[in-house]
Formats: sequence, structure tokens, C-alpha cells
Amino acid sequence: MILVTGGAGFIGANFVLDWFACEHEPVVNLDKLTYAGNLGSLSSLAGDERHVFVRGDIGDADLVRTLLERHRPRAVVNFAAESHVDRSIHGPAAFIDTNVVGTFALLDCVRAWWSEQPADERATFRFLHVSTDEVYGSLGPDDSAFSETTPYAPNSPYAASKASSDHLVRAYHHTYGLPTLTTNCSNNYGPRQFPEKLIPLMIVNALAGKPLPVYGDGRNVRDWLYVGDHCSAIRTVLAHGRVGETYNVGGNAERANIDVVRTVCRLVRERRPHVDCERLVTFVRDRPGHDRRYAIDATKIRRELGWTPAHTFETGLARTIEWYLDNGAWLASVQNAEYRQWVELQYA
Ligand code: NAD
Ligand code: TYD
Repeated sequence: MILVTGGAGFIGANFVLDWFACEHEPVVNLDKLTYAGNLGSLSSLAGDERHVFVRGDIGDADLVRTLLERHRPRAVVNFAAESHVDRSIHGPAAFIDTNVVGTFALLDCVRAWWSEQPADERATFRFLHVSTDEVYGSLGPDDSAFSETTPYAPNSPYAASKASSDHLVRAYHHTYGLPTLTTNCSNNYGPRQFPEKLIPLMIVNALAGKPLPVYGDGRNVRDWLYVGDHCSAIRTVLAHGRVGETYNVGGNAERANIDVVRTVCRLVRERRPHVDCERLVTFVRDRPGHDRRYAIDATKIRRELGWTPAHTFETGLARTIEWYLDNGAWLASVQNAEYRQWVELQYA
């Protein structure tokens, strides 16, 4: 079996669901269930014995050790993290606690347990760390896309905490020989994403007739990848990636934020003609230290492992909007008091 951390979050939950659609191997899912964790995203797995959910912290060494000894996973896939840049600006401490100290504790537990296993099991074991393109910093309009050799230059507390965790993973391979893999992926979107990130926030606000807050001039650029394609990339790297390597994962879909918002508006209106989103677009104060542009050069994962995304931005976004329109109960459940407080703090 495999141990997945953060498997009740956006990408982790999609990964677990996709995993069971493609593989037979059981999953132990360790998740702290922070505001971003949601067992409702995994409700279709109720009663499925292949899925063992454990509520807990990756920083809890005793718990992690117990899980490793009990389940003897052949791999750990680490999604658990604090993941929202704006929250890292308001409260960076949680990002250091989980992304730096928590990842360190997880790595060290895994290393200690792994080092006691028979040689053949040590050789096939993998620790796959899921990271972000934000560790590379910000690009100018004409700069080449981030490759695996681009120097790290993180700009937000979130990006710095992820960069720190990536360095620890690298060091654990280099020093102890732990068979690690790291993926650095661009912005994901898709079903089950918490509506604090750009795309689900715009869908939720559009449906509620609320303003669509666009930071600054709306010309910041991100590369967008459908979450199902990120999951297939992680499965590919886990199965075939070269130990100790990092792989950049991207969607070949650079878009300015304002264009993303307008595309969301158009697709929502095609399905809900009465929702006049365009008039809701509102330019608001910019994010402090807002990175201007991210772009991913995914040549390595394509050439070495044959991975390419199956969705274009337009097909992925259409599927995403359908999902949100069809899953009103999920959406209502995440817009609780804590969520409303966050929106008030961030957009007041
Ligand atoms: P998310 O915020 O939706 O989910 C994170 C999950 O981790 C939640 O279920 C939460 O409960 C859990 N968690 C948080 N702290 C924990 C702890 N200490 N112990 C155990 N569980 C804990 O995040 P996401 O968007 O699904 O991102 C998953 C991973 O992918 C993160 O590591 C993130 O840095 C990375 N990533 C995200 C994106 C993106 O666009 N969302 C892009 C590239 C990489
Ligand atoms: P986000 O989804 O928070 O991802 P990240 O900061 O990790 O790239 O934001 C994507 C882009 O959208 C980013 O340039 C910030 C911008 N943005 C807005 O313009 N308005 C918003 O309300 C949010 C949440 C983000």
C-alpha cells in the first residue's frame, strides 16, 4: 500500500480518487483536516476497504512511526501543506509549522523506519514530495520558463516554506540515500478546490452575484494545469521517475488573471444565462510581493517519462465549472463561518 498525506485536500483527494480508478493498491490517508481538509471530497469512498483514513499531523512522529510499522507502505506521497499564499501573508507561522517543521518530522520518521527495512524493500521504496513552481520566484515577460535547474528564489512565506521543504527532501536523498522524488507543479484547478484560490472563488462569487476581486492590474500570469493531469503526472513520476530527481509539471497554459476570470465568466454564463459575471469584475488592492509571472518548462517529464497533460485549459475549465454547478451541497458546506471570516479579512 501507499501512504498519502494531505489526501483530504484539493489535490490529495483528487489523487486518491484517481488512484482507485487506476490502481488496486490500498491507500492510508493521513490528514490533519485543517480548514482546507474535507472528508466530503472523499464521500464516494465510504465503505471502501482500500481507503484507510487517519486524522493526524505529519509532524506527529509517534503517529507516523506507528502508521509506517502497521501498514509498511512501499511509498509515501506527501501533499500535506498549508497552501494559500494570501493566508501565508496574514499568518506565516502555520506555514513554517507544517511545511518546514512538519515535512522535516515526516522525512526523518520515514528515513529512520526505511533504514531498518530489508535491502530489496529499501531499494524500491519511494518518498514523493509534491511541490510548487512558486519556489523559483517571478519571471519577466520575456524570461524562459522555469526548468529543473532554475535557481530557487521564493518570494512569499508560502513559497519560502515549500522551498525549504524541497531542500530537506534533497538533503535526505543526498545524505542518507532515501529514495526521494520531487515534483514542482504550476497552478492547479479542478473539482474540490477550496474557494479561496482564484478559479473556485470566481465561480462561487459569480453564482452568488458578488464582486470578482482581481488583484492589481490583472496582468499577472500563471500556468494552469487541470488537477487530473497533475495526478497522472504524480503517478508517472512515482512509477518511473529517477530517484533523487525533480520534475517540473505544467499545463502549457499561461494566462493573465484577467483572461482567466473572463473565461470563467463566459463559461458560467453559457450554463447560467442569467448570471451576468462581467459586470462583477472588480480590480482591488494588489497582493503584497505579488509574483508577476510563472511558466513551466515541462520538457524533462515529457522526454524522460512520456507524460503530457490530457486537458487544455478550456476543456479542463469547462469540466471544473460543471462540477461546481453540480455540487452545490459540497460548496455550501465549505462556505462556513470560518470561510466567511477569511473572506471578510482578505477582501474587506
Ligand atoms: P490544500 O490546502 O487544498 O490541502 C492541503 C491538505 O493538507 C488539507 O487536507 C489539510 O488538512 C492537510 N494538512 C495541512 N497541514 C497538515 C498537517 N500538518 N498534517 C497533515 N495534514 C495536513 O492544498 P492543495 O492545493 O491540495 O495542495 C497540495 C500540495 O500540492 C501542497 O503541498 C501544495 O504546496 C502543492 N501544490 C499545490 C498547487 C495548487 O495549485 N493548489 C500547485 C502546485 C503544488
Ligand atoms: P491563487 O489561486 O491564490 O494561486 P497562487 O497565488 O498560488 O498563484 O492566485 C492565482 C492568481 O490570481 C495570483 O496571481 C493572484 C490572483 N488572485 C486574484 O487576482 N484575486 C483573488 O481573489 C485571488 C485569490 C487570486
